[in-house]
Amino acid sequence: SREAAGEHAGPAPRSVRISVTDRCDFACTYCRPSRHDGYADGKLMTAAWRTMFEALRDAGIRRVRLTGGEPLLHPEIVSIVGCLAALGFEDLALTTNASQLARLAGALRAAGLHRLNVSIDTLDPGRFGEMTRGGELARVLDGIDAAIAAGFSPIKLNTVVLRGVNDDEIERLALWAWERRMVPRFLEVMPIAEGARLVGKHLVTAAEMRARLAEHLLPEEAAAEPGLGPARYVRARRDPSLRVGFITGTSDTFCESCDRLRVSSTGVLRPCLATDDGVDASREAKSGDRAAIRLRLDEAWRLKPDGKVWKGCTEETASAVSIRAIGG
Ligand code: GTP
Ligand code: 5AD
Ligand code: SF4
Repeated sequence: SREAAGEHAGPAPRSVRISVTDRCDFACTYCRPSRHDGYADGKLMTAAWRTMFEALRDAGIRRVRLTGGEPLLHPEIVSIVGCLAALGFEDLALTTNASQLARLAGALRAAGLHRLNVSIDTLDPGRFGEMTRGGELARVLDGIDAAIAAGFSPIKLNTVVLRGVNDDEIERLALWAWERRMVPRFLEVMPIAEGARLVGKHLVTAAEMRARLAEHLLPEEAAAEPGLGPARYVRARRDPSLRVGFITGTSDTFCESCDRLRVSSTGVLRPCLATDDGVDASREAKSGDRAAIRLRLDEAWRLKPDGKVWKGCTEETASAVSIRAIGG
């Protein structure tokens, strides 16, 4: 129970974000300082993952999201998905930049992956190259096509909106996503890692994004609906089966309802995105000791801040942990 777990006053852990690698083939400006930041050959989650997953399931975790870095750069990603699917989690999802998706979408679907979120910040190839420092938009679009063809539906798109960079594309991205029966989602840039330097000048709040979309696409006033995660959704004016999501990671918090634990590719359990606190469970995982991992997990959950730690997060106080290392 929560009391047994210690002083933390929020919900018990029910969902987990597992970063399978901190490698990434892109270097988005709000995430990495440069392409040459020493992470080209980042860590990969090792064979001990199986024990870790079993321990998570035993602890009552029901929903799993695989992240990175870029999770599809893990050479065993299809086996990892297969293993999690066999363990019977209620929800099994993955967030990707789609660079490898054309090659892997079918195999991931066959291995039992339920849901897919794809990050795409612009539909302009030149701008895409700049924002990702070298990413190729055409490959990402091929990846999305392959994922739709493989039967993932609805795919969610994540767009981090930056003023003066891609904020002129909100409407176009929403229409483009809806044409393909996908759910466009717009994210406020968060003051983590490189994002901390961008918030001041480039933050566009969800309220402003929504007001802009209300010009043609959204009703002016409609209550935003919750989903499973931090996003809130608004239905299109012309067709209520179409939705757009907003993630207010900076102008608002959702800490009260947060039931999320994070696992890094090196086996560190983290209770919160906003702090560097974590508990290393890699030795327990390697020795195959599920009960010992469980103790580590309870220890990590006790470190969870019980309030609005995120609010007022400034450049100085922002977590130094890169979103790439903890998977967002
Ligand atoms: P769905 O279950 O499909 O809604 O996915 P999700 O939104 O939980 O996951 P996704 O990987 O698509 O994340 C979208 C954004 O939400 C990323 O920028 C994450 O960093 C951010 N995010 C996820 N969980 C949290 C959280 O607990 N706190 C904060 N501040 N941001 C979060
Ligand atoms: N602020 C907001 N979103 C971010 N992401 C990465 N860094 C940041 C940040 N500083 C997004 C990615 C991806 C998701 C997992 O997190 O674009 O869509
Ligand atoms: Fe929970 Fe931390 Fe996210 Fe807030 S920022 S919702 S405390 S994980």
